[in-house]
Amino acid sequence: MSQSMSELSNAAGVELPREVSGVATPEDEVVETSLRPRSLGEYIGQPKITTNLKIFLRAAKARREALDHVLFFGPPGLGKTTLSQIIAHEMDAPLKPVSAPAIERGGDLAAVLTNLQEGEVLFIDEIHRLKPQIEEVLYSAMEDYQLDIMIGQGTAARSIKLDLPKFTLVGATTRAGLITAPLRGRFGIVFHLDFYSRKDLEIIIHRSAEILGVEIEASGASELARRARGTPRIANRLLRRVRDYAEVLNDGRITQAVARRALDEMEVDRFGLDEVDRKVLTTIIEKFDGGPVGVGTIAASISEERESIEEIIEPYLIQIGFLNRTPRGRVCTPAAYKHLGFPSPRRGTSLLAS
Ligand code: ADE
Repeated sequence: MSQSMSELSNAAGVELPREVSGVATPEDEVVETSLRPRSLGEYIGQPKITTNLKIFLRAAKARREALDHVLFFGPPGLGKTTLSQIIAHEMDAPLKPVSAPAIERGGDLAAVLTNLQEGEVLFIDEIHRLKPQIEEVLYSAMEDYQLDIMIGQGTAARSIKLDLPKFTLVGATTRAGLITAPLRGRFGIVFHLDFYSRKDLEIIIHRSAEILGVEIEASGASELARRARGTPRIANRLLRRVRDYAEVLNDGRITQAVARRALDEMEVDRFGLDEVDRKVLTTIIEKFDGGPVGVGTIAASISEERESIEEIIEPYLIQIGFLNRTPRGRVCTPAAYKHLGFPSPRRGTSLLAS
């Protein structure tokens, strides 16, 4: 993620982390280890995924086979890594996590694949970022548990096949549109992660507070859940920040008043939007008459990366009904105008004129 997205400068020029990005910070990675659910039974939310996964896991275990390859789509922070760990745990199998950008050569992937154990879960994060020639090595590995490698060069070059252990590949990506059809087609199980309901986030916040030894009132958890953008990682991060306020301003107990004050001071608003979200919406409204405007144009106007807007900012704004994606570009909805205090759009004129 770009520096500009993950870090905001406050008035004094001090770099502040962006509290409502779903992308993991180093602090998140440390704390999440203790907060992550380890089994499907502990997992809260994503009911369609957990119901199906339970059946697929039970069937694979009964047949003493590796689980079919699984692909998870979804914005950052919704639990793709957690679910891959749960799959390994439920299959009593080891987990080998790798990040696609770290696999630079075919040989790197061959080394990972040939070192797998029978039944092992290979988790490839950001799988849409695999280089095409490396992705091709995966095809026969996924389909036939075989590795085709070339040895030698020129006229002496020949291809050899190596048998691989029967493993499960779990791929994760934030970008459904960037996965090639041949790769996607080799996954037997494909899941889309949705944003979490407020109710599920409240349960997650209570569970995390218990693990962290933080006292929180139901109304405090509800306030946090409302502003956590449907994302457990953000909920857990806001919980840690609000705990700081509660310890300094109160007796450590998170009440609704403390949660409100802390979140207001962090400029996370009632819908979980921060300065960057508001900048995107305000720019579309003020500079482009509410849209439609292309995402590349928005990115250039606010000096953000297009990918950050598409992967992190936009999915939630669309989910809460503040932004629409149309063939001609992004359009702010009347709800966004209202939330930001702009008069209602003269929708007919701007849409017809552009
Ligand atoms: N912590 C983060 N995500 C969670 C989830 N889905 N269920 C329980 N605890 C969590």
